Amino acid sequence: MPMIRECIVTTVGASGEPHLAPLGLIEHGDLWIIAPFRPSATLANLESFPFATASFTDDVRIFAGCVCGRKDWPLESVPGWPAPRLAEALSHAELEVVRAEADATRPRFFCQVKKIETHRPFLGFNRAQAAVIEAAILATRLHMLSREKIDREIAYLKIAVDKTAGPAERQAWDMLMAKINADDAGLDR
Ligand SMILES: Cc1cc2nc3c(=O)[nH]c(=O)nc-3n(C[C@H](O)[C@H](O)[C@H](O)COP(=O)(O)O)c2cc1C
Repeated sequence: MPMIRECIVTTVGASGEPHLAPLGLIEHGDLWIIAPFRPSATLANLESFPFATASFTDDVRIFAGCVCGRKDWPLESVPGWPAPRLAEALSHAELEVVRAEADATRPRFFCQVKKIETHRPFLGFNRAQAAVIEAAILATRLHMLSREKIDREIAYLKIAVDKTAGPAERQAWDMLMAKINADDAGLDR
């Protein structure tokens, strides 16, 4: 299996508005692949405008927020590049689609990495951040997974959150638990 980096991808819509989505970038030699499932705004945007910016951040509230419908995270324009980055990004990569592979379920956009820039220091791994990312992925797959599997995985991930979270990780976790519990109660359907 290839290495996958979880990040926030910014693409640009037909009327120039930026769109944020948490996505995994799949390493493929020197290229990075963006693989959005249909239907998706990221997919539509890349089909009409083949540029994206990947923001790498340790602020996991942004992953949780995007998954829970909050996408108004501060952006900054990138000099000489059409897609903005997260203001909070530790670093960002400027991606240009050089090849697209059509697929009925999950097309793949092969991107050349034009530039990588660093903005802030990376201050080490944190288990609660990793747990929030896992829970955010679960929260996008509630319709595909059994309740038993979701409950089992959340119980395990919660151990790392309880032991190692700071306030931002706790806030992100609480956002995701509200979504997952609302789905369980049928409030999301
Ligand atoms: C960490 C993380 C990684 C994700 N990776 C992908 C991905 O590679 N492909 C995908 O289609 N959705 C992925 N998702 C789910 C998307 O973020 C979500 O479906 C989003 O709404 C994309 O659709 P949009 O472009 O319409 O916003 C991921 C979610 C998380 C939290």
